[in-house]
Amino acid sequence: MSERGPVRGGKGLLRGRFSGEVHPALDRINRSLPVDIRLWREDVDGSIAHAQMLAARRILPAAAVRRIVAGLKKVRRELEAGTFVVKPSDEDVHMAVERRLTELVGPDGGRVHTGRSRNDQVASDVRLFLHRLPDQVTPALRGVQRALVRLARRDGDAILPAYTHLQRGQPVLLGHHLLAYVEMLDRDERRLAAACRDFPWPLGAGAATGAAYPVDRVRTARALGGRGAEPSRNSLDSVSSRDQLTQWVAGAAQAAVTLSRLGEDLVLWTTREFGFARLGDAVSTGSSIMPQKRNPDGAELLRGKTARVIGALNTLLTLQKGLPLGYNKDLQEDKAAFFDALDTLLAMLAVAEAMLGDLRFDRARMRAAVDDPTGFLLATEAADWLAKRGVPFREAHRAVGALVQAAEERGVALEALPLDVFRQAHPRYDRTVYRALTPEAAVAARGAIGGTAPKNVAKELARWEATLGLARRARRARKR
Ligand code: ARG
Repeated sequence: MSERGPVRGGKGLLRGRFSGEVHPALDRINRSLPVDIRLWREDVDGSIAHAQMLAARRILPAAAVRRIVAGLKKVRRELEAGTFVVKPSDEDVHMAVERRLTELVGPDGGRVHTGRSRNDQVASDVRLFLHRLPDQVTPALRGVQRALVRLARRDGDAILPAYTHLQRGQPVLLGHHLLAYVEMLDRDERRLAAACRDFPWPLGAGAATGAAYPVDRVRTARALGGRGAEPSRNSLDSVSSRDQLTQWVAGAAQAAVTLSRLGEDLVLWTTREFGFARLGDAVSTGSSIMPQKRNPDGAELLRGKTARVIGALNTLLTLQKGLPLGYNKDLQEDKAAFFDALDTLLAMLAVAEAMLGDLRFDRARMRAAVDDPTGFLLATEAADWLAKRGVPFREAHRAVGALVQAAEERGVALEALPLDVFRQAHPRYDRTVYRALTPEAAVAARGAIGGTAPKNVAKELARWEATLGLARRARRARKR
């Protein structure tokens, strides 16, 4: 076969009906290999499953399929070893793999594409990539959760203000604050894993209308996706739809938002103004001009990179919204957005884990913020004290409003007001009210499910330690 023959490249694999080469400008914009080369494992595995099915259904001779499968395994080894050489004719990963296969096994290589199209192939590669993705993403999310749980174990009993409207509201345990993120990240993990799971398999949908061969789509779906895998029920849907990617990236955007909010807490906590925490040297950055600076760039980038992941979600939705049914080349842009969201999220998770692993809390500063007499963090307790004794909460709220005013005038905390001032605010008050007016009493009072009472937080902490495989290590640490 000549070097310029229809199979061997020179002239592109698909240019049989054209005279001459594709315009370089079109070639540049059309080429997706730099992005989709990341799908090579899935492309090879999908091709092997497809070829084996073709033999089982006697669509291709068994001997040819044996050569094809051996060739594909060789291609895989080359890609693994980094010895795979990309050719200018390799427009995307599918063509690169098929081109190399054909170089290795000869004309049989050209038979692997029987009964499939790149349209169902790319959808199938992405489907398989997502199927395997939790193995990468879940451990990264769990790593951040573990770092939070370790902090909760070490300093979770410290009390700091809980904020509403970023104004000090009520005392809360640090462990409660940290475990809030553990809960959020857990839902993030579930959403991302669910997006990787429940979705039909597109291989065998063909270019648009299905395969004109008796392909066994159940077999290929299960070869790739395991026992419960089901083939898609409509070929046009299969080659046109990218909603699984949208769903995953939506989950990634939400996970990024969780990390962004954690980043914002870290930024606030490490300011001189808050001073609740300090980041270790390895996870702090300096300033090019102000030698004293200890900047929380990592935490800021948790916020900043989130914009990018949200952008990827926007890209995917916008990409699909005006498309006529059927495969359209616009869809090729899906993978750049998806991989960027994936890489960004993984980088964020890694830095979040590193920062949390090297964070020191200043318990005294947190306590000072709770005890600050101008903060009135115990005002709710004073109102609850009345309400628990039959005073309608609205009336109690008003009475405590008057108390706060009186305390503000004297420049003291509520609990420093004499009993007669309490009595003026509401006649029901007696001296046992002072027992309710400590941060410890305030947190202990919140013992219903989900509240910050120490016994709740301890239970939740133990539950998360068990879930995250930290229980045994924690028990050992406590014994020491
Ligand atoms: N590289 C393409 C993509 O990512 C593969 C499918 C191409 N199909 C086609 N008919 N040109 O979407």
